[in-house]
Amino acid sequence: MDKLAIIGGRPLFGDIPISGAKNSALKLFAASLLTDKPLILTNVPKLADVDMLSRLLAELGVDVVREGDRATLTAAAIASTLAPYDLVRKMRASFNVLGPLLAREGKAKVSLPGGCAIGARPVDLHLKAFEAMGASIELDEGYVIATVDGRLKSARIDFPFVSVGATEHAMLAATLADGEVELNNAACEPEIVDLANCLIAMGARIEGAGGQTIRIAGVEALSGATYEVMPDRIETGAYAMAVGVAGGEVTLRNARLDLLGAAVGSLREAGLSLEETGDGLVVSRAGSRCRAVDIVTKPFPGFPTDLQAQFMALMATADGTSSIRETIFENRFMHAPELARMGAKIAVNGQTATVAGVARLKGAPVMATDLRASMGLILAALGAEGQTIVNRVYHLDRGFERLEEKLARCGALVERVRGDD
Ligand code: UD1
Repeated sequence: MDKLAIIGGRPLFGDIPISGAKNSALKLFAASLLTDKPLILTNVPKLADVDMLSRLLAELGVDVVREGDRATLTAAAIASTLAPYDLVRKMRASFNVLGPLLAREGKAKVSLPGGCAIGARPVDLHLKAFEAMGASIELDEGYVIATVDGRLKSARIDFPFVSVGATEHAMLAATLADGEVELNNAACEPEIVDLANCLIAMGARIEGAGGQTIRIAGVEALSGATYEVMPDRIETGAYAMAVGVAGGEVTLRNARLDLLGAAVGSLREAGLSLEETGDGLVVSRAGSRCRAVDIVTKPFPGFPTDLQAQFMALMATADGTSSIRETIFENRFMHAPELARMGAKIAVNGQTATVAGVARLKGAPVMATDLRASMGLILAALGAEGQTIVNRVYHLDRGFERLEEKLARCGALVERVRGDD
C-alpha cells in the first residue's frame, strides 16, 4: 500500500487548481442511466471513486468514455439492472444507481451498501421515498429488490431528517415519474443544486433545489446534455486549512466562497484571510498561528462534517482551546487518537472533542480509516516538526485528486512512497 512521507514546517506559496466535486460527479454519473442519449460531463475529477462507479455503470450497459476531465456516458440500452455486492460494498455512492434503474426500467436489484468506518449509514430514507412513489421494496440476502408497475407516481415525501443521499436519490428517480413529487425537509447542499441543474439541462422539471422543498414534475423521457461539474468545496476547505496550519499564501483556482457556507466564518474567525478574485480564492494566514474556534457540524449551510477532521487538525496547533461537535455521523473522531500520536491534546467525550492547541506537533507514522480523516492527518503533518508517514493513502486517492502534486507545487515536502504490502 502506498504511503505519503511529509516533512512539515514549510509555508505554502503558489496556486492549487481545485478539481470538480467528487460528491457531485458521482451523482451526475448515476444520472446518465436516466436517458438513452449521451450525457457529457466536464471538470470530472480523476479519482478512484469515479473509476469505481464507471466500472459499475459499464456493467449496467453504459458506454463510458473518459478523456482528460471529460466523460461521455451513453446508456443507449440498459444491459443489466443488477448492481452486485462487490462493486457497491467498496463505495456507498454506487447505491445511487437504484433510483435511476427503477425509474427507467421499472426494476433494480442493488446490494445494500452496509456501514462504514464513520457510522452505520442506513438507507431507510431512500427506500421509503421509493415506496412513497409506488415502488415495492424487498430485502433479500443483502440485496434491495425494487420494482414498480409502470412508472413511479406522484408523492409527497417528508424526510424526518436531512439526508443528502436520500434527497439526491429521490430527485433522480422522480424526474421520470408520472406526476409531481414533492420533497420536504430536503438537503440544501450545493451538490443537490448541481445535480438539479444537470437534470434540468437534460429536460427534467425541477423547482426549489437548494431550498427545503423541492418539486419535481416527472417527464416521459430525458435527453442528453453537456454539463460542467461544480468545484469541490471540501477540497477547497481542506487546502484553505492547509494554509492555516502551515502559513503562506495560496490561490485556490476555480474555488467558490459561496459553496463553503458556515466554514467561511469559522476560518476567518480562526485568522485566515479568504478573498475571492476573478478566478478563485486567495487564502493567507494573518498571524503566526491560528486562533481556537468552536464548531458544530450541521447540514448545509452549517459547518460540513466532511471538513471536521481537517478543522480538528487546524485546531490542534491553534492558540487556545476549541470544542468540535459532530452531529451528522456517530463515529467520526477516529483521527483524534492519530493526531494525539503527533502530540495533539484532544479529549473526546461522546460527540464532542475538546482540542487544547499546542504550539507545534511532531511528525509520526499515522494511519486513518477514512478519506476526510486522512486529509486531516496530511494537514497536521504539513505543520509538524520532522517527518510524518501517512499510511493507507488509498483513502486519499478516493477523493483528493493529485494531492501530493498540488501540495508540492506550493513548496510542501511531500512524497509518495510506493508499497506493495
Ligand atoms: C453524503 C456525502 C458525505 C457527507 C454526507 C453529509 C456523498 C457521496 N457523500 O453522504 O461525504 O459526509 O453527505 O454531508 O455525497 N441516514 C439515515 N438513513 C438514510 C440516509 C441517511 O439514517 O436513509 C443518516 C446517515 O447515517 C447520517 C445522516 O443520515 O447519519 C446524514 O447522512 P446523508 O446526508 O444521507 O449522507 P450521505 O448522502 O451518505
